[in-house]
Amino acid sequence: MPISEGSPVDSEVLDAETDWEARYQAGSTRWDRGAPSPSLERWLEVTALGPGSRIVVPGCGFGHEVPALASRGFRVIGLDVAPTPVGHLRRELAQAGLEAEVVQADMLAWQPEGPVDGIYDQTSLCALAPEQWSAYEAKLHGWLREGGELFACFMQTGREGGPPYHCAVPTMRQLFPADRWGWQDEVGRTDHTNGKYEQLFSLIRR
Ligand SMILES: C[S@@+](CC[C@H](N)C(=O)[O-])C[C@H]1O[C@@H](n2cnc3c(N)ncnc32)[C@H](O)[C@@H]1O
Repeated sequence: MPISEGSPVDSEVLDAETDWEARYQAGSTRWDRGAPSPSLERWLEVTALGPGSRIVVPGCGFGHEVPALASRGFRVIGLDVAPTPVGHLRRELAQAGLEAEVVQADMLAWQPEGPVDGIYDQTSLCALAPEQWSAYEAKLHGWLREGGELFACFMQTGREGGPPYHCAVPTMRQLFPADRWGWQDEVGRTDHTNGKYEQLFSLIRR
């Protein structure tokens, strides 16, 4: 992809969109469970947030968690760079008669209109290259109100490269430092096929 002079951000957006959209168009979406993840159920068991709270689901993909949250009364914003899952999710919400905002945007460039109460990150961070993680952490911090909650499903692949990229918990503790995030105890683990799993943490924005 040629990078036009003076617009590096636009070019990065286009790369992410093109690469991920190509996977959706090829039907290469092995990460998709076809239903809400057990990680969401675990979060709903432990979170202090309730109906009416504004929640962002970044990198939502087909976003099965978005209608699941909307049906429980949360005000949800699903966000993804790829047009195909965004269109799919909008149609699914309409068919179910549920309301949620679904935005097609690069999460490293997008900003909500006002601070939100919660972020549910499921296989979103691990979809980004590690060079982008600091910028992503800054975005998440900037989206949340003080005292808001980031529910993070840290992907454990045990291997180099990605996506998905390995999100080792010691690395995550450096990325989400204690002076910016209040780390709660680990609340569980969600297994994937072929040995990968998510370690589930709730982080409170300071
Ligand atoms: C591994 S998939 C996970 C999808 C969904 N969270 C799930 O668990 O099924 C990663 C998602 O992140 C999206 N994504 C990757 N980079 C992005 C970016 N810069 N901005 C917004 N979405 C992005 C991709 O389009 C893809 O849908």
